[in-house]
Amino acid sequence: MTNLKIRNEEVTDYQTVEELTREAFWNLYVPGCDEHYLVHTMRNHPDFIKEMAFVAESDNKIVGSIMYTKSYVENKNNDRIDTLTFGPLCVLPEYQRKGVGTALINHTKKIAIQNNVSAIIILGDPHNYCKHGFKCCKDYKITTKDNKFPVGLLILELEKGVFDNQYWTFHESPLYAINNEEVEEYDKKFPVKEKKYQYSQDLFGILIRAYIE
Ligand SMILES: CC(C)(COP(=O)(O)OP(=O)(O)OC[C@H]1O[C@@H](n2cnc3c(N)ncnc32)[C@H](O)[C@@H]1OP(=O)(O)O)[C@@H](O)C(=O)NCCC(=O)NCCS
Repeated sequence: MTNLKIRNEEVTDYQTVEELTREAFWNLYVPGCDEHYLVHTMRNHPDFIKEMAFVAESDNKIVGSIMYTKSYVENKNNDRIDTLTFGPLCVLPEYQRKGVGTALINHTKKIAIQNNVSAIIILGDPHNYCKHGFKCCKDYKITTKDNKFPVGLLILELEKGVFDNQYWTFHESPLYAINNEEVEEYDKKFPVKEKKYQYSQDLFGILIRAYIE
């Protein structure tokens, strides 16, 4: 896209970014969505990294957003490596498949490298992220707290060899655990939208129950 601009998110963008997030996620993974409420709450959490929240602008409007949080991996000796996690990442439906998501990832990846970040670790669909260099968690022996290798746990190693062939447990920020009743209440502030089934919800249901042996 030729007229795409990426800039830090400002306080004055908060409402627009929540609306955009709701549009992008609505009915995609579940009927309705909770990511706009997540965006709303995460900004007040100590694990939220304000300097790493970016919006993409095109045609003088915000069309995409990426937000990062602090995360880490820990081994059995309690050695800890600080990492970054992004999410939500989203693009307005009518602006998807034009390179906006790629631009947001590339922009922030560059900043992470400049800041000597060891790795970016996310939970997401491999289809969206392997093209950006993310690899399977099992390749780096990184598990979830319940000792599993989810298909969606993806690692972008930025400091080569940092995981040193040891086993690590991934710890995402507790800010991602949100309360469904609060989501319902918060959603009332937005224009009414129909919650319905889409087959993408079944794809998601398969992905979140898929583990690498
Ligand atoms: C996932 C998401 C952020 C990707 O953003 P995006 O702007 O559509 O991403 P890109 O345009 O960079 O890439 C998407 C696809 O478009 C293709 N593409 C990029 N520019 C293109 C262009 N100019 N012409 C045609 N195709 C193009 C890419 O190659 C990619 O193709 P692929 O899926 O077949 O590999 C966006 O789809 C989204 O908001 N989805 C809903 C929310 C969501 O699921 N977020 C992620 C949570 S895990």
